[in-house]
Amino acid sequence: MPEPRSPSPPPVPGVTLKGDFNHQDQVLFTGLTLKVAAGVWTCLLGPSGVGKSTLLRLLAGLKTGGRFCGTIKTDDDLPLQNRIAYMGQSDLLAPWLNIHDNIVLGARLRGEKPDVARADRLISRVGLSDHRNKRPAALSGGMRQRVALARALMEDRPFVLLDEPFAALDAKTRSEMQELAFEMLAGRTVLLVTHDPSEAARLGHHIRILTEQGLSDYAVPSSLPLRAYDAPETIQTQIALLQQLRAPSHA
Ligand SMILES: Nc1ncnc2c1ncn2[C@@H]1O[C@H](COP(=O)(O)OP(=O)(O)OP(=O)(O)O)[C@@H](O)[C@H]1O
Ligand SMILES: [Mg+2]
Repeated sequence: MPEPRSPSPPPVPGVTLKGDFNHQDQVLFTGLTLKVAAGVWTCLLGPSGVGKSTLLRLLAGLKTGGRFCGTIKTDDDLPLQNRIAYMGQSDLLAPWLNIHDNIVLGARLRGEKPDVARADRLISRVGLSDHRNKRPAALSGGMRQRVALARALMEDRPFVLLDEPFAALDAKTRSEMQELAFEMLAGRTVLLVTHDPSEAARLGHHIRILTEQGLSDYAVPSSLPLRAYDAPETIQTQIALLQQLRAPSHA
């Protein structure tokens, strides 16, 4: 059953990160401008190690182990703090808590009363109702990733940062979870890191590619997401995007 929600969620701002970043012995980017457009999905692709997760961690206000010199500015000039849901590249589940308790952990840590019914609906929608009371160690990698996704969706925030959220899922479940996330995050400002050109072609209002040379925009189909996985424009974009990612200039 779809999650009950207001018919038109309030508009949310976008956010722009500008600046330079380096680890002790490695410059990751200089003069970078990453614009995450308001209320829509921006997909970020690029080779392994180029700095995608670092960008998400910077936006989320998490430690990166390096030095950022620049600005992170929202369109409404209000702080991002407490307005972000973040799903990291590793699932970061608490090993001593079962699925349900992991999903309501954010509320518990804030001292709020968790919405148990909403958590149970989410557990059902990610297909884990039969495993509600299991701990992470008793779950497969794909199951754990769905718990982490449910936890991010549970947060119900205007800014949502997803770092390869579907990477461990089988093809059928992946397409279903893309659809669930797209439905539940309508109107939010979403930044999705992915290595999967077909995922970006389905989900992206904007597609940006990060390389050592910097950030570039990639043309999306004229139709709006969520695009059917088998629509001609999705398949064309997927192929063209893969060709672009394989081009020597993107190595
Ligand atoms: N704590 C750290 N200390 C030093 N270097 C780091 C640290 N964390 C990441 N790096 C380096 O920063 C670079 C960018 O890492 P990041 O995780 O952002 O890449 P990524 O684009 O997300 O890669 P992937 O697609 O493999 O997830 C890598 O070269 C990595 O080795
Ligand atoms: Mg990464």
